[in-house]
Amino acid sequence: MMTDRELLDKAKEAWKYAYTPYSKFSVGAAILTKSGAVYTGCNVENSSFGLTCCAERVALFKAVSEGERDFLKLAVVGQENTSVLPCGACRQVLFEFAPDITIITLQNNRIKSYSLKELLPEGFELQGKRKKDKRIR
Ligand code: THU
Repeated sequence: MMTDRELLDKAKEAWKYAYTPYSKFSVGAAILTKSGAVYTGCNVENSSFGLTCCAERVALFKAVSEGERDFLKLAVVGQENTSVLPCGACRQVLFEFAPDITIITLQNNRIKSYSLKELLPEGFELQGKRKKDKRIR
């Protein structure tokens, strides 16, 4: 079983691959599935700035695109001693697949833990959306 430290280490590894020539603000993420698999992501910027994709969404979309649907925990790291939490857009995207996910980050080398519910209390959900729609057909 992955410890929080190990998941944060995976996020730190991905952080090295961040493509951030514009903001110079690199972010790494690692998402843990219920089955114990880990998918990592980094932010990928673009000269058309709005096309930038955050590290958290890269990690989540990598996982979803490989058939994962059940998630336990997301680790996010920034520059040394800089805690990073998912932006509002990423919170909503996480809410789609993992409304009960836990989000961890490092602050001065201490682990800080949040529930997505506290970071996004009233996420958007289409009326009548059935849980089974999330399954793979
Ligand atoms: N960014 C992330 O990757 N995740 C966050 O939670 C916050 C923002 C990226 C987007 C952009 O490349 C840079 O950080 C500065 O906004």
